[in-house]
Amino acid sequence: MKDFVKLAKEFALKEQKSTSMPLLQHIELASSVGVGLANKLRANSQIVEAGTYLMDCMIGEALNQGKLPEHIKMSADKTIELLKTTDLSKKDKENIVHCVMEHHGVKKFYSLESEICCNADCYRFISVKGFSYAMRYLRDMPFEDLVSLLKNKSNEKWNALTLNECKKELNPQYELIKQFISELNRK
Ligand SMILES: [Fe+2]
Repeated sequence: MKDFVKLAKEFALKEQKSTSMPLLQHIELASSVGVGLANKLRANSQIVEAGTYLMDCMIGEALNQGKLPEHIKMSADKTIELLKTTDLSKKDKENIVHCVMEHHGVKKFYSLESEICCNADCYRFISVKGFSYAMRYLRDMPFEDLVSLLKNKSNEKWNALTLNECKKELNPQYELIKQFISELNRK
C-alpha cells in the first residue's frame, strides 16, 4: 500500500505540474486533513491519502478538454489504470476507486475512507486557508466572476460536509467566509 500511495502522489504532482490544477496547496491541504481525520476516526489512512491525491488528479486535463464535470469519472478511470499495476487486494482497490468517485458527496458513502476524502476536499474552499489559496490563485479572473465562483464553491462544499468534527471545525470559518463574500458583494 505504501508504494501505491507514493505512486498516487507522484502521478497527482506530475499532472499538477503539467496543468497547474488542482492548486498544489489544495492537494497538500486535502491530503493532510484527510490523513488527520483517518487517524482520529480509525480509518485506513493510506487509503485516504491515496484517495485525496487521486480524487481530482485529472481535473486539469478535464478542464483543458472543456469537460470539467467529467473530472470525477476521468480521475476514477485513471485510478483504475494505476491500480492495475499493483497487487493490492480487490477490497482495497475498490475502496480507493470509491474514494475518488464519491469525493463530491453521495447519499450513502461506500466506506468511512470515502466519506473522509469528501470531507477533506471541502477544506479547499471552506477553511480560511483553502479559501485564501483559491483567491490568490484565481486573482487574475474578472473580480465579479471570482466572487461568484467562490460563493458557489463555498456553498457547495458546506452542503457536502457530513462529518460532525469537520462541521464543528469549519462552521466558524465558513461563517467568516460568507461574511467576507457578502461584504465583497455589497454595492
Ligand atoms: Fe473534484
